[in-house]
Amino acid sequence: MAKLKIEDLDKIAEDVKRKMNIREGAGRVKITVHMGTCGIAAGARNVMNTFLNLIAQNDVKDVIVTTSGCAGLCSREPMATLELLGQAPVKYADLNEERAKKIFEEHVMKGKFVEECVLSVGSERIQ
Ligand code: FES
Repeated sequence: MAKLKIEDLDKIAEDVKRKMNIREGAGRVKITVHMGTCGIAAGARNVMNTFLNLIAQNDVKDVIVTTSGCAGLCSREPMATLELLGQAPVKYADLNEERAKKIFEEHVMKGKFVEECVLSVGSERIQ
Protein backbone atom coordinates (compact mmCIF):
# COMPACT_ATOMS: atom_id res chain seq x y z
CA MET A 1 0.00 0.00 0.00
CA ALA A 2 1.33 3.45 -0.93
CA LYS A 3 2.13 5.90 1.85
CA LEU A 4 -0.58 8.46 2.51
CA LYS A 5 0.28 12.15 2.27
CA ILE A 6 -1.48 15.04 3.99
CA GLU A 7 -3.08 15.91 0.62
CA ASP A 8 -4.45 12.35 0.40
CA LEU A 9 -6.03 12.66 3.85
CA ASP A 10 -7.58 16.02 2.91
CA LYS A 11 -8.98 14.47 -0.25
CA ILE A 12 -10.37 11.52 1.70
CA ALA A 13 -11.96 13.87 4.24
CA GLU A 14 -13.56 15.98 1.48
CA ASP A 15 -14.81 12.91 -0.35
CA VAL A 16 -16.32 11.43 2.80
CA LYS A 17 -17.90 14.77 3.76
CA ARG A 18 -19.48 15.08 0.32
CA LYS A 19 -20.87 11.55 0.44
CA MET A 20 -22.05 12.00 4.02
CA ASN A 21 -23.97 15.13 3.05
CA ILE A 22 -25.83 13.02 0.53
CA ARG A 23 -26.58 10.45 3.21
CA GLU A 24 -27.76 12.81 5.94
CA GLY A 25 -31.34 12.53 7.06
CA ALA A 26 -33.54 10.57 9.41
CA GLY A 27 -31.99 7.21 10.08
CA ARG A 28 -33.15 3.76 11.11
CA VAL A 29 -29.51 2.72 11.10
CA LYS A 30 -26.32 4.64 11.81
CA ILE A 31 -23.01 3.24 10.60
CA THR A 32 -19.91 4.83 12.09
CA VAL A 33 -16.70 3.89 10.34
CA HIS A 34 -13.71 4.50 12.59
CA MET A 35 -11.27 6.52 10.51
CA GLY A 36 -8.28 7.01 12.78
CA THR A 37 -4.88 6.84 11.14
CA CYS A 38 -4.59 3.14 11.87
CA GLY A 39 -8.10 2.53 10.53
CA ILE A 40 -7.34 4.34 7.28
CA ALA A 41 -4.04 2.50 6.93
CA ALA A 42 -5.84 -0.82 7.46
CA GLY A 43 -8.49 -0.10 4.82
CA ALA A 44 -11.30 1.86 6.50
CA ARG A 45 -11.73 3.90 3.34
CA ASN A 46 -12.65 0.77 1.37
CA VAL A 47 -15.05 -0.26 4.12
CA MET A 48 -16.68 3.19 4.05
CA ASN A 49 -16.96 3.11 0.26
CA THR A 50 -18.42 -0.40 0.36
CA PHE A 51 -21.19 0.74 2.73
CA LEU A 52 -21.86 3.89 0.67
CA ASN A 53 -21.98 1.93 -2.59
CA LEU A 54 -24.33 -0.71 -1.17
CA ILE A 55 -26.63 2.00 0.17
CA ALA A 56 -26.72 3.68 -3.25
CA GLN A 57 -27.13 0.40 -5.18
CA ASN A 58 -30.02 -0.70 -2.95
CA ASP A 59 -31.57 2.78 -2.88
CA VAL A 60 -31.68 2.67 0.91
CA LYS A 61 -32.88 5.99 2.36
CA ASP A 62 -32.82 5.44 6.11
CA VAL A 63 -29.16 4.69 6.80
CA ILE A 64 -26.77 7.36 8.02
CA VAL A 65 -23.07 6.82 7.43
CA THR A 66 -20.64 8.80 9.49
CA THR A 67 -17.05 8.62 10.69
CA SER A 68 -15.19 8.93 13.95
CA GLY A 69 -11.60 8.81 15.09
CA CYS A 70 -9.89 5.66 16.19
CA ALA A 71 -11.78 3.18 18.31
CA GLY A 72 -8.78 2.31 20.46
CA LEU A 73 -7.81 -1.08 19.03
CA CYS A 74 -5.31 -0.63 16.21
CA SER A 75 -4.86 -4.36 15.77
CA ARG A 76 -8.58 -4.90 15.05
CA GLU A 77 -8.98 -2.15 12.44
CA PRO A 78 -10.81 -1.45 10.23
CA MET A 79 -13.72 -1.18 12.60
CA ALA A 80 -17.28 0.14 12.38
CA THR A 81 -20.09 0.60 14.86
CA LEU A 82 -23.64 -0.15 13.80
CA GLU A 83 -26.59 1.33 15.67
CA LEU A 84 -30.11 0.25 14.89
CA LEU A 85 -32.81 2.46 16.30
CA GLY A 86 -33.61 1.37 19.86
CA GLN A 87 -30.88 -1.29 20.02
CA ALA A 88 -27.45 -1.43 21.64
CA PRO A 89 -24.56 -0.43 19.37
CA VAL A 90 -22.61 -3.29 17.83
CA LYS A 91 -18.91 -2.86 17.15
CA TYR A 92 -17.52 -4.83 14.21
CA ALA A 93 -13.79 -5.46 13.76
CA ASP A 94 -11.28 -6.74 11.19
CA LEU A 95 -13.46 -5.44 8.39
CA ASN A 96 -12.86 -5.67 4.70
CA GLU A 97 -15.10 -5.28 1.67
CA GLU A 98 -16.49 -8.81 1.94
CA ARG A 99 -17.29 -8.54 5.65
CA ALA A 100 -18.83 -5.07 5.16
CA LYS A 101 -21.10 -6.52 2.45
CA LYS A 102 -22.20 -9.31 4.78
CA ILE A 103 -22.89 -6.82 7.59
CA PHE A 104 -24.89 -4.66 5.22
CA GLU A 105 -26.95 -7.59 3.93
CA GLU A 106 -27.56 -9.23 7.32
CA HIS A 107 -27.49 -6.51 9.98
CA VAL A 108 -28.47 -3.33 8.13
CA MET A 109 -31.11 -4.94 5.93
CA LYS A 110 -32.38 -7.80 8.14
CA GLY A 111 -31.44 -6.72 11.68
CA LYS A 112 -29.31 -9.84 12.37
CA PHE A 113 -25.83 -9.62 13.91
CA VAL A 114 -22.97 -11.04 11.88
CA GLU A 115 -21.54 -12.98 14.82
CA GLU A 116 -18.13 -13.78 13.30
CA CYS A 117 -17.39 -10.06 12.85
CA VAL A 118 -18.72 -8.77 16.21
CA LEU A 119 -16.16 -7.36 18.63
CA SER A 120 -18.58 -6.06 21.25
CA VAL A 121 -22.21 -5.23 21.87
CA GLY A 122 -23.25 -2.27 23.98
CA SER A 123 -21.91 1.15 24.75
CA GLU A 124 -19.12 2.22 27.02
CA ARG A 125 -21.04 5.43 27.63
CA ILE A 126 -22.37 6.21 31.11
CA GLN A 127 -25.73 7.93 31.07
S1 FES B 1 -4.34 4.86 16.92
FE1 FES B 1 -5.06 2.88 16.43
S2 FES B 1 -6.80 2.67 17.60
FE2 FES B 1 -6.13 4.65 18.08
